[in-house]
Amino acid sequence: MHCTHLIAADTWYVGASDRRLAKFENLFPISRGVSYNSYLIVDEKTALLDTADSSVSAQYLENTAHALNGRGLDYLIINHMEPDHAATIAEVLLRWPQAQIVCNAKTVPMLKNYFPAAAEKIDAALLVKEGDVLSLGSHELTFVMAPMVHWPEVMLTFDKTTNVLFSADAFGTFGALNGNIFADEVDFARDWLDDARRYYANIVGKYGTQVQAVLKKAAGLPIQVIAPLHGPIWRENLGWFLGKYDLWSRWQPEDQGVVVLYGSMYGNTAGAASALAGLLADRGVKNIAVHDLSVTDTSEAVAECFRASTIVLAAPTYNGGLYLPMNALLEDLKALSLQNRTFALIENGSWAPMSGKLMAERVGELKNCTLLDTRVTLRGALTPAQDADLAALADAVAATVQG
Ligand code: FEO
Repeated sequence: MHCTHLIAADTWYVGASDRRLAKFENLFPISRGVSYNSYLIVDEKTALLDTADSSVSAQYLENTAHALNGRGLDYLIINHMEPDHAATIAEVLLRWPQAQIVCNAKTVPMLKNYFPAAAEKIDAALLVKEGDVLSLGSHELTFVMAPMVHWPEVMLTFDKTTNVLFSADAFGTFGALNGNIFADEVDFARDWLDDARRYYANIVGKYGTQVQAVLKKAAGLPIQVIAPLHGPIWRENLGWFLGKYDLWSRWQPEDQGVVVLYGSMYGNTAGAASALAGLLADRGVKNIAVHDLSVTDTSEAVAECFRASTIVLAAPTYNGGLYLPMNALLEDLKALSLQNRTFALIENGSWAPMSGKLMAERVGELKNCTLLDTRVTLRGALTPAQDADLAALADAVAATVQG
């Protein structure tokens, strides 16, 4: 059964959602599923913008055929080659063999690597570059190169007739679409923002500079609709979401707030982290978040670090090194180039605490991050003699968010 939606004049949503996949990229848990968005413009010429993951290919192809309504496909525009959007290219070309590929020069070698059997079609591709215009009849499409957002070949397509920006992964989010395909039909801030931030931070987060370059280009376009490759489509309140992207891509916090991220083998470090959170609350800090890194997925912890201004790390020493979940988080924060945060540390080590030194070194590798001098060292449990130490840490941490 087809499931298509008109999103603008002559412009159909033909994507599909997957609610069975456990982990996106076999890495990031997606309990709310994920959508693979694709769009079809039906004009004098027809143009399909990107395809879909193989897991939803049957639904996707049925949707596309329905929206074509017996018409042939003239163009397959490839904005992004990652297989969650490109996996069905070969199948599309088999079903609509007259379709001409439209892509930029960086896409061609990727196409040949993924789809060697389609070499002839790839050689016949219409290559476009920044600002080129492709007329479909009444719709005029122009192309905006977006290299390294988050792959090198990424481009965006702007329909100058409907003012729809087909934004590739930019402005995407985890989460299946549940009938409502527009962001204004759901409570995005309540139900989607956390996953949108997690998607951005983990998938695109490393490439903030490149995202900033695209945001500057986008500011010059009269965009009325943003149609990403994942998640809801934006046709209202675009500025709110663009503002989130502006903060995230400059590695600026959304909230002047505290997140406490701890690893704990036997509950002693957890106890200190919880006690600190209570002391912060006593000092008037609101909306404190506390996560056990052995329970909270690293991708969620990363997203919390993109959200909050102050990050407290608490971890035991392990094999003379750093407790593994904390190590994984700090590796990821460095890879994603997290910047502009304040950190505080609680370390634990029964006979030779090393985790504080190691966490401090890792924080020191992050750009423009401040490490508070006040640090608590545990040798197992938090003892009454250390109450003053923890109180001093709470004072210092609270001051970072209370100006
Ligand atoms: Fe959703 Fe970079 O692919």
